[in-house]
Amino acid sequence: MTSVEENPVHYERRDAVAVLTIDRLDRHNALSRSTLHALGRLTRDAIADVRVRAIVVTGRGSKAFCAGADLKERQGYTNEDVRTQVGLYRTELAWLDRSPKPVVAAINGVALGGGLELAMICDLRIAAPHAIIGLPETGLGIIPGAGGTQRLPRIVGEARAKEMILLGRRLTAAEALAWGLVNRVAPADVDVVDDAIAWIAPIASGAPIAQAAALAAIDVSFEVPLDRGLEIERVHYDETLRSQDRLEALAAFAEKRKPVFQGH
Ligand code: COA
Repeated sequence: MTSVEENPVHYERRDAVAVLTIDRLDRHNALSRSTLHALGRLTRDAIADVRVRAIVVTGRGSKAFCAGADLKERQGYTNEDVRTQVGLYRTELAWLDRSPKPVVAAINGVALGGGLELAMICDLRIAAPHAIIGLPETGLGIIPGAGGTQRLPRIVGEARAKEMILLGRRLTAAEALAWGLVNRVAPADVDVVDDAIAWIAPIASGAPIAQAAALAAIDVSFEVPLDRGLEIERVHYDETLRSQDRLEALAAFAEKRKPVFQGH
């Protein structure tokens, strides 16, 4: 089995935004075992840091966001090793999935297989104009194993998900935007991470309790019947009702100024 790499993911805090950069240029930022562990660990760090209000996930360079599973590392794997690795997608990437702080994928290049699955775990997706996005797994004799068969149809609908997965169709950034698979395509002359940080400025200056409550409520919306979902929404609404930030917003409105949210 491949040895543990030192720093497969780079962590940088840019004011209120934690930027997690997969740093494996020679493998198109593919997800090795240590990369998955590092993503989990650094996400926990970002969640624990009160200065951080949002997390951006990206890849080093301009070629690849992430080319999916590390197929070179996988070559020496037994079936059991692969099962363990697929389990790591769930346990380690769950930190991004369940983060109370909004998570944004800044797709700086190709996002294939586990790369697109990683992007789909994020709450928002922004792509560089040259990004190529797809789930090629069936062409490799497997299926997406990090949530792709479940999250893609929820985002683009069943017909388009089957088209992408069965035909191995790769989308350009413009097509992904038209399908609603990415929220935004960055301008050609702007770095996609810079663009993402500027775009999410309302999150960085917004009310963290309200954002976390909104994420929690939206995230269960596909899993429960409407009646139950409305009840869950009420519970999360109540969390915001008890916050100081709500009172601050009312005071700021009355005083005709911008609110300053403290997250309590
Ligand atoms: N795992 C490990 N290494 C990978 C990789 C992956 N998923 N994807 C790319 N690389 C490596 C290549 O082997 C190559 O290394 P080398 O120079 O030592 O041969 C390097 O990254 C550059 O890749 P290359 O194929 O030469 O670049 P490209 O621009 O021609 O093509 C891709 C880029 C992403 C389209 C192509 O590499 C590819 O199809 N990769 C596999 C993607 C995939 O199927 N992922 C799903 C896995 S389930």
